[in-house]
Amino acid sequence: MAESNIGLTLKYFWDLIAGLNWEMRRGLLICIEGLDRSGKTTQSHLLVENLKSKGFEAVYTTEPSDGEIGRFIKRYVLRRRKRIPAHIEALLFAADRVDHVEREIKPMLNEGKIVVSDRYIYSSLAYQGAAGLDVEWIREVNRMVPEPDLAIYLEVPIDVIMERLRRKRRKSVMESPEIQEKVREVYIKLVKEGKLIMVDGNRSITEVSRDIQKIVIDRLKQLEN
Ligand code: TMP
Repeated sequence: MAESNIGLTLKYFWDLIAGLNWEMRRGLLICIEGLDRSGKTTQSHLLVENLKSKGFEAVYTTEPSDGEIGRFIKRYVLRRRKRIPAHIEALLFAADRVDHVEREIKPMLNEGKIVVSDRYIYSSLAYQGAAGLDVEWIREVNRMVPEPDLAIYLEVPIDVIMERLRRKRRKSVMESPEIQEKVREVYIKLVKEGKLIMVDGNRSITEVSRDIQKIVIDRLKQLEN
């Protein structure tokens, strides 16, 4: 009798926890990835607007985040002449990501929102991975944050990226052809591994946006069934 009571109590708590877990991940986390100047920001905003026009609660967010660590990264990691060691970059981006998830992403997912993040874990795998770090180690230091439900990579040829960057006055440490080419190789590898869905970003804004919308709506339909 006592044993079955314990069993029932355990089952009660198990159901409660399982219920809470489900409650905690009601929303959807989508990330848009790509090289610098690949159109991610425009497309992320457009996706949010399109989802809202269809009645979904969607929000835009970005990495590096607007939090203290993110602001530190923009100022002391990206806007300088020479890159700092890649493992320090990776740890700082991972710390910013944990902060971003705790402050913004988790609360929004808990409210059932669709969160569109302009860059997420794959930016660390691509940029810090391209700098020679072990990708498994980068994954390890990012273990504290949830995997995205959907990750899209905007493919834009290097010459187009470099032409867009040429017009930019203050370049970040990442915006050289050598770095962008290596980063692209890692992104393409991740696409081949099935981690990212590739979208041809070298077309009109409307065409690219239509493709992204279709991928997202298809995923939402899959989740409904
Ligand atoms: P952007 O958001 O304007 O593209 O600038 C962010 C820069 O930071 C971009 O060059 C990519 C880089 N970055 C990393 O190297 N690792 C990361 O984890 C993230 C989020 C960004």
